[in-house]
Amino acid sequence: MTRVLKVDAAQPDAAVIEEAAAALRGGQLVAFPTETVYGLGANALDPHAVARIFEAKGRPATDPLIVHIAHIGQLSRCASHIPPAARQLGLAFWPGPLTVILPKKPEIPDSVTARLPSVALRVPSHPVAHALMEMAGVPVAAPSANRFSRPSPTTAAHVLADLDGRVDLVLDAGPTDIGLESTIVDFTVDPPVMRRPGGLTLEQIRSVVPGVTIATANGSAEVAQQAPGQLTRHYAPKAELTLYDGPVQSVLQRVAADARTLAATGHRVGILAPEEDLVALAPELAAPAAAGRVEVQPYGSRSAPARAAHDLFAALRTLDATGVSHILATSPDADGLGLAIRDRLGRAADGRIRRV
Ligand code: TXA
Ligand code: MG
Repeated sequence: MTRVLKVDAAQPDAAVIEEAAAALRGGQLVAFPTETVYGLGANALDPHAVARIFEAKGRPATDPLIVHIAHIGQLSRCASHIPPAARQLGLAFWPGPLTVILPKKPEIPDSVTARLPSVALRVPSHPVAHALMEMAGVPVAAPSANRFSRPSPTTAAHVLADLDGRVDLVLDAGPTDIGLESTIVDFTVDPPVMRRPGGLTLEQIRSVVPGVTIATANGSAEVAQQAPGQLTRHYAPKAELTLYDGPVQSVLQRVAADARTLAATGHRVGILAPEEDLVALAPELAAPAAAGRVEVQPYGSRSAPARAAHDLFAALRTLDATGVSHILATSPDADGLGLAIRDRLGRAADGRIRRV
């Protein structure tokens, strides 16, 4: 049985938080909102509770979890060494959508880190997440609260769609603010490496630690060992998703042509794109061949990447639920938040990236 408790996002009711904190301390699984996406939390110091996370999600044990703490002062409970640059970055952007990888203390069970000698740590800013970490009094291991390979949940309804009956409690505080997961920076290597782009932009990170480099997209052998989760297929829709990459005009022409061809051969096609792209495509898709066979799903706008990030996962779920067999996706430019948006669509495409 999964219980759902509504909670105010800005001023969470202390009684609700205390109940959820007690559940965590008692070894239960609690899904809760963060500013990025909903997390599926368990007491990070309790290997049995941690094992239940992997079971509930259907997540391979080789994919390490992020440990959430209430404030930067708790880093030293989990990390054996904190390089000055990591502390600086934390001071600049915590609480917020930043995760750092540091050498782990023995107190953190091996199952949390998939036997890696490092641990991923984050201080969330969402008032509900923050209050929960404070009251729980233990570090909280929490991956995104979706079934393995589904898009991360940005509402409690998404959590329930994937995990109803598999977790003990869901705290529902409405949609999350950022909509994409945290940015992960690995400080166990020098210079530090960004392992996953996310809600904190590379530009913001480099304004504090200029030397941060980017992990190669396909993953070197070293990356494979250090971030196993990043190599598996994520955000896999039921439909076959293709990401179109290149100058906007050429991308839109190719999307329109491919949509018409697919529709003409009897397929139901979805187009997932920022609003401006769909406006530009509308006349192209009015042709009789495409009529009734093409679903369009906007996500935000090229000129407002924060809104695009906020809407992306919900849009992906909505479009996939229509039962289309193919999704043709376009993305904003790969700077700022666009880098993370492009990364998530690239994973959903599982290699089907069409450069035009
Ligand atoms: O915004 C977020 O980060 C959300 C919210 C809930 O905090 N959490 C999240 O967790 O996205 P998850 O499990 O979906 O992604 C965690 C990823 C893993 O897949 C892995 O790639 C990386 O973090 N990771 C965790 N520990 C690591 C480690 N010790 N070394 C390298 N990568 C690690
Ligand atoms: Mg995840």
